[in-house]
Amino acid sequence: MDVAKSIAEFRALRAELAGPVGFVPTMGYLHEGHLSLVRIARERCASVVASIFVNPTQFAPTEDLADYPRDLDRDLELLEREGVDLVFAPDEGVGLYAEGHDTWVELPNLTSRLEGASRPTHFRGVATIVAKLFNIVNPDVAVFGQKDAQQALVIRRLIADLDFDIEMVVGPTVREPDGLAMSSRNAYLSPEERAAAPVLFRSLEHAKALARGGERRADRILADMKALIATAPLVKIQYVSIADAHTLEELDEIDRPALVSLAAHLGTTRLIDNVLLEPNQEST
Ligand code: PAJ
Repeated sequence: MDVAKSIAEFRALRAELAGPVGFVPTMGYLHEGHLSLVRIARERCASVVASIFVNPTQFAPTEDLADYPRDLDRDLELLEREGVDLVFAPDEGVGLYAEGHDTWVELPNLTSRLEGASRPTHFRGVATIVAKLFNIVNPDVAVFGQKDAQQALVIRRLIADLDFDIEMVVGPTVREPDGLAMSSRNAYLSPEERAAAPVLFRSLEHAKALARGGERRADRILADMKALIATAPLVKIQYVSIADAHTLEELDEIDRPALVSLAAHLGTTRLIDNVLLEPNQEST
């Protein structure tokens, strides 16, 4: 496995790879969720590239950029074990933003809701770095996680709108045995917060069960989810939403594929999670 620290070094090594090339972008501190995406890329492609870069522009000044967990040596070991061919791990000091960087990729509609509403500058940072990485890596296939459902929609839109010749694949959310979605940020949780956190997944499972039982009114499901989460006093809900799975418009009635998503604070840690409701899961 080769590791490139600069764009020039990366491009030279990339030119040697057999196609098709699969790409998994990450911010490192890897867990099974990330590795599941590497495996998807491995299955579909002759060569696999992963990137590790804690992208400063997707963090607001008040957020956890400085504290974001990092362990490059361990990450490289894990990626090597998964058979990754080439890792792009640009030096954070030099970074990927040249002096005077002034080009931004924005999707004002799709990012006006949910995560975008809570984190107004977040997706412009994500879309810009992903467009830059696509231009540097030039992959045939790019793999993202359903864990970040709105991010996956944003990247799908970006690929279509900017004519990237890339097939996008979305891998399912990988969870801990108690249902908590794996996240690099789970490392921040105190033992008490960690014990309380699975209530988020339980509330999503409850929503699924209600929908399967024929409940179509979003407000009823949301009220039940909030009541369930309120049984865990350490968990403070930021939003709970039932939205059109493609446009993210809030739904009153679940009459099409819907995304049930939430964000919550446990102490200073912010967690997100979601499930999809497909109409054919309902017993109508
Ligand atoms: P990061 O949070 O490191 O996640 C990298 C990829 O792993 C994303 O596609 C994310 O959705 C996926 N992922 C995270 N947790 C997962 C889980 N439990 N199961 C399945 N997939 C999971 O997302 C980012 O980095 C950044 O925004 C990035 C796209 C790299 C741009 O900076």
